[in-house]
Amino acid sequence: MIDSHFIKNTKLEGLNVSRETLNELEKYSSSLISRNKEINLISASTERSINTRHIKDSAQTIDFINKKDIKTCTDLGSGAGLPGIVLAILMKHKNPLFKVIFYEKSFHKSNFIKEMSKKFKLNTEVHQKNIFEEKNLNTDVGGVGKTTTVINLAAGLSMRGKKILVIDLDPQGNATTGLGLSNTENSDQTIYSVLNGNKKISQIVQTTKFDNLDLITSNVHLSGLEVETVGDSRRAFILKDELGSYLNDSGASYNYIFIDCPPSLSLLTIMALVASDALVVPLQTEFFALEGLTQLMKTIERIKNNLNPELSIRGILLTMYDKRNKLSGEVEREARNYFKDKVYQTVVPRNVRLSEAPSHGVPVLIYDKSCLGSKSYFNFTDEFLNQDKPVESAAW
Ligand SMILES: Nc1ncnc2c1ncn2[C@@H]1O[C@H](COP(=O)(O)OP(=O)(O)O)[C@@H](O)[C@H]1O
Ligand SMILES: [Mg+2]
Repeated sequence: MIDSHFIKNTKLEGLNVSRETLNELEKYSSSLISRNKEINLISASTERSINTRHIKDSAQTIDFINKKDIKTCTDLGSGAGLPGIVLAILMKHKNPLFKVIFYEKSFHKSNFIKEMSKKFKLNTEVHQKNIFEEKNLNTDVGGVGKTTTVINLAAGLSMRGKKILVIDLDPQGNATTGLGLSNTENSDQTIYSVLNGNKKISQIVQTTKFDNLDLITSNVHLSGLEVETVGDSRRAFILKDELGSYLNDSGASYNYIFIDCPPSLSLLTIMALVASDALVVPLQTEFFALEGLTQLMKTIERIKNNLNPELSIRGILLTMYDKRNKLSGEVEREARNYFKDKVYQTVVPRNVRLSEAPSHGVPVLIYDKSCLGSKSYFNFTDEFLNQDKPVESAAW
């Protein structure tokens, strides 16, 4: 039950929050007060004014976050979680990817933050340390072989007679140029024109010089989409909806549609995950990428729970394998041990031909079909196709 005084006292009426959210805020506030009796979380004066001032003060920052469309906040010297926990509760249903990172040196306080995160299923990361002790603050996942994999899997399948559509959803437009089309700024025949409502997919889909392989291009304008669609509450579904009506109306019959995602977790990535039914995750074997992968798994769970229950992981592809590097072997062992048969048997080696091909605008499978990189992507194509073969029945 929500104490009606809570809404009044905290003056949250103006913020347009759901009862469920208010309920969670109240539970957080009462946990804070009751736990403060056992462990020293907040000062006596904070305790007195927690419902009348502190919750509201914390909630005020949400305006700024919405306006700037911020996806990650770091709460430094977090104490008992004001404002970070309040923010995470408020943002939970607005944006499932919104994340708060806490740095709190005290054992009791950081534990309390972890406990609250668990209790309210918040997307948080809690570090029991001072921010100045942190050396590695970078969270991007670029350069792992996503685009290379999209291009060459698409090429491999099209050579096997499958009809393929590639959607470039990265403002850098590397899949576009890697498949021989242009990503110059002046084109409006791109995915951006569809996502901003100016065009329909049927007007922008292009053929490539490769049989059975169509492409929806991208260019740098796509990076503006996130800010431009801030007010649209269904924006995560735009790609899914547009793609759905294109496939319905045009009668286009693709065997597979691949969406090449941008490097960081952004609105574009959410759009891709919402529109997809399966995910192929390239995992670079040259450094400890497993932690990033665990993070990605959590994100996928959140998308599944909130936006797309159909989403599944089709497989994990080990990339940039270097057999002279001990770490490659270790990452492979750990990945297979942990993710079992979700990891494809094929391993893509580090191979210079793979990095040369894009500047020629062709997949490596065409640029140099017998190099090691091509062999691995041909194998991967077969493994990928086999996943869709009906399992033979053992019964006669
Ligand atoms: N197995 C590989 N061996 C060597 N270079 C590779 C390999 N896979 C990708 N590259 C190169 O590494 C860079 C990053 O790869 P890319 O596929 O663009 O990654 P992402 O799309 O994840 O950012 C590109 O220059 C690409 O040509
Ligand atoms: Mg890329």
